[in-house]
Amino acid sequence: MDLKSLKINRKRLQESLDEMAKIGATPGGGVQRLTLSDEDKQARDLFVKWLKELGCEVTIDEMGNIFGKRAGRNNDLPPVLSGSHIDSQPKGGRFDGILGVMGPLEVLRTLHENNVETERPITIVDWTNEEGSRFAPAMVSSGVWAGVLDRDWAYSRTDINGKRFGDELERIGYKGKIPAKKRPLHCYYEYHIEQGPILEKEGITIGAPKGILCLHWYDVYLEGEANQVGPTPMEGRHDALCAAAEMILKVNQLPDRMGGNMVATVGEIQNYPNSRNIIPDKVHFTVDIRSWDDDLALKAWELLRKDFEEIASGRGCPIKIEETWRVEHSPFDKTLVQRILDTSSQLGYSSLRMVSGAGHDASYMNQITPTAMIFIPSIGGRSHVEVENSTWADCEAGANVLLHCILKSANEI
Ligand code: GLV
Ligand code: MN
Ligand code: MN
Repeated sequence: MDLKSLKINRKRLQESLDEMAKIGATPGGGVQRLTLSDEDKQARDLFVKWLKELGCEVTIDEMGNIFGKRAGRNNDLPPVLSGSHIDSQPKGGRFDGILGVMGPLEVLRTLHENNVETERPITIVDWTNEEGSRFAPAMVSSGVWAGVLDRDWAYSRTDINGKRFGDELERIGYKGKIPAKKRPLHCYYEYHIEQGPILEKEGITIGAPKGILCLHWYDVYLEGEANQVGPTPMEGRHDALCAAAEMILKVNQLPDRMGGNMVATVGEIQNYPNSRNIIPDKVHFTVDIRSWDDDLALKAWELLRKDFEEIASGRGCPIKIEETWRVEHSPFDKTLVQRILDTSSQLGYSSLRMVSGAGHDASYMNQITPTAMIFIPSIGGRSHVEVENSTWADCEAGANVLLHCILKSANEI
């Protein structure tokens, strides 16, 4: 058959995404499929079933990463890898991650029903805990697989209820025996929604990020002195939440202070004992700093750290800071990025070179193999929220670009 005219099946892709969106569906139209939860397990089981129905060889490694391999003509050649993640944010959207797992699945289904063979094997992957919302950090299992993060450190991470990653992985039955260790790859493609406003604003169908911003995560712990709010005078208080409030505003002001080209966010906070009539004596909050310029992000952090220490001592609230996670900015493989742009235009889709502000497993894959990503527009630029949405036409377009990029790479010898 003429491979150039091969197209994925939009209806089937939509049905798979709809089926997945039922698992952990939230009243507001999103999904809550936190990593290593029962919902994550249910969605993994369905994914494994679909892989097996296609005749893929399924393996699960000790981080719970699921690989589905479709044989090529020459299975000694390293495979083309494509995937993303099944887990979601709390009250997250129905496209983030799962599109990049169902997309390559649809590609394999299309190849299968058309009896298309490729030189190299093609492997789909679901990376465990991409989101980093239940267990920090994010992208942890691709990080372990790439040899950058330590497996036992990842196992020891705890969620807000004190549950360990390793125990939860075992509980849902996805602690595999195969070492989570990199193997030779030909290249890696990750298909994803943009999660920002640019493609929609520009009226463009396909985004080809030139790379991903650096990501720096910190955890800040403050101590104060608890007391009855009524009788305790305002002077002399050690209010941990007030110290945190001042610090949070410093985080928000940081990008402006550094002259732009970065974003900085506090997204999570725990306040103890969290009672309206007790002065807070314990606060934990997170800091997320991202930039294309790693040095700028580090300089910004040094300034912020000084501010934090001053605020903490001014309020008499001891501070402890954990530098939880750093990933350098990831400039993708130029040839693959160009291939995505060229393939888009061959298929009649408009395309744009851009940058990814969101983190992806592609960051770690980029450290070990040529890597690139395919983006489609996010309606209203909204993501990590229940209203996250993309059109089915765009989902189809991105999957067609993925199909033809994978075909080109899988037939390279
Ligand atoms: C991952 O979803 C991130 O960008 O934080
Ligand atoms: Mn994602
Ligand atoms: Mn996400």
